[in-house]
Amino acid sequence: MNETLTIRTTINGRKRTIDVAVNHTLLDVLRDDIDLTGTKECCVVGECGACTVIVDGRPMNSCLMLAVEIDGKEVTTVEGLELDGELSALQAAFLDESAAQCGFCIPGQLMSATALLAENPDPSVEEVQEGLAGNLCRCAGYEQITKAVLAAAKGVPR
Ligand code: FES
Repeated sequence: MNETLTIRTTINGRKRTIDVAVNHTLLDVLRDDIDLTGTKECCVVGECGACTVIVDGRPMNSCLMLAVEIDGKEVTTVEGLELDGELSALQAAFLDESAAQCGFCIPGQLMSATALLAENPDPSVEEVQEGLAGNLCRCAGYEQITKAVLAAAKGVPR
């Protein structure tokens, strides 16, 4: 049986005390223990970005973090982007720009872009591309994704 530890964390604004297996990744715990399945599992070796979440303001590959590492930290997943049932401006821009094709990479793209815009609210095209460089899109929808991030940054009305 796996050894477990009790951690205290804040996930999507909600304080939680969770028992986690010491060898489970943050991705495992989000998806399997607390049903936050918006965070996607793909390569599990840190190469695709599908599992990106924000930890204390920084985008992180949750497949590369042990869940015990979020003890005392704040985590935001894609489920935490909406507010009172309203999409965030970035989510709305992704819809408007048809940035989601198959959709699998989109939660990770949204989390990297959210962290980018929090740090740099008016990025250039190159800065968006650099900020999302760790998020692969197999549909190659990079142009629409970049446009959506720029539109959200400029507050382009829907
Ligand atoms: Fe984590 Fe690919 S699933 S980077």
